[in-house]
Amino acid sequence: MFSSTANRPRPRLFWFWQRGQSLPGAPPYAGSHGSKHLFAAAFLAHLRPRLLSPMTSLASKNSPTTTAWFLRAPSMRLQRGFALAAVISNALIAVTGAVVRVTGSGLGCPTWPECHPGSLVPVQRSQQSALHQAIEFGNRTLTGVVLIASLGTLVLLWRARPQRRSVVKIALLLPLGVLFQALWGGLTVLTGLVWWTVAPHMLVSLVIVFVATWIYQRLGEGDGPVRYTVPKPLVTLVWATCAVLLALSVMGTLVTAAGPHAGDEKTARLDLPVPMLAQIHADLMFLYLGLLIALGVGLLAVSASPALRRRLWWLVGITMSQGLIGIVQYLTGVPEILVVFHVGGATLLVAAAGRLAFGTRARAAALGEHPAQDPARRSQAGSANTQAVKQSA
Ligand code: HEM
Repeated sequence: MFSSTANRPRPRLFWFWQRGQSLPGAPPYAGSHGSKHLFAAAFLAHLRPRLLSPMTSLASKNSPTTTAWFLRAPSMRLQRGFALAAVISNALIAVTGAVVRVTGSGLGCPTWPECHPGSLVPVQRSQQSALHQAIEFGNRTLTGVVLIASLGTLVLLWRARPQRRSVVKIALLLPLGVLFQALWGGLTVLTGLVWWTVAPHMLVSLVIVFVATWIYQRLGEGDGPVRYTVPKPLVTLVWATCAVLLALSVMGTLVTAAGPHAGDEKTARLDLPVPMLAQIHADLMFLYLGLLIALGVGLLAVSASPALRRRLWWLVGITMSQGLIGIVQYLTGVPEILVVFHVGGATLLVAAAGRLAFGTRARAAALGEHPAQDPARRSQAGSANTQAVKQSA
């Protein structure tokens, strides 16, 4: 009654799957058993050209308009976009860290890496308020964004053609810095937000912002020898201002360490008088401002480029605003909102200081280096060549 399935004609797709038959070109010993594996192999062989053809055939043409986007060497615009995202996201996480601190949410998630024992996310039954948990958890979640921007910058620079090894090496610092911060953040929570863990956490964020700014700047220049656009003493003065900014920031974290915003009410504070620490902090700011003004006079005297002078005046403006916020917050009992602005101002200032410091030099394309893939740099290189031709004429 029932016809045997063995005798049914096989569908055309499986034409080679015949009992006891081998694939065309297959060794004769590939019988019924082996043919199953061969089926898989042949099926993959059948699919592979179709799956890979958009990648391989287009990649082989190596044309930016036809190559699949993920196989193309990233454009300079994309690389710079990611570097900028790294600057912004690292600055942002420092600001949200300050929000955690001033709202007393530091132990909203009392464990690490989990938020609560047994839970990666906030839980309702916890002793911590929902708001504190949300703020601390939000800050932890932002680490993902920072990591994407930082690791993304490294990957893009690594994939860029031609690859610029010196910039890739600097970019390696970004994900390493973020990893360090994630681990150090855990230590901060596990030690109950003790000040000597909180202060370096803030300072390392500022350093990462500086490094990301450096990468952004490096992507706008070539790999040729460094040529300073202002006399050496002014370059030294610029780096001296950076050193004072570092001391000023370290001192700021000590004011915080002794101040009222620990991140949790039970946390022990640095046992030093706040007025004394704040005085040293403010004195360093006046020193910083004085050096910037001296630098401004120097840049005017040597007729530095308007672009460089603009960077300096921006820095002076940000410093004065930051100082004003600092003084007001000190005189008004350190209100939470001003602390957040003060931390935001510090990150902005560090980025602006980096722009100024790296703006004192120019690096042409190295010998044998192609202009970067993007039209902006090609035209820059073109106009530089035209100028050179004009000068030689
Ligand atoms: C260029 C100027 C300034 C910069 C770059 C700067 C930077 C900083 C930094 C990085 C912190 C540590 C923030 C933290 O650990 O979360 C801080 C804290 C602080 N700064 Fe400044 N600061 C400047 C000017 C001033 C001035 C002029 C004052 C006036 C006294 C001041 C008052 C304070 C106070 C009171 C704190 C502690 C805030 C807290 O308890 O959280 N700052 N500052």
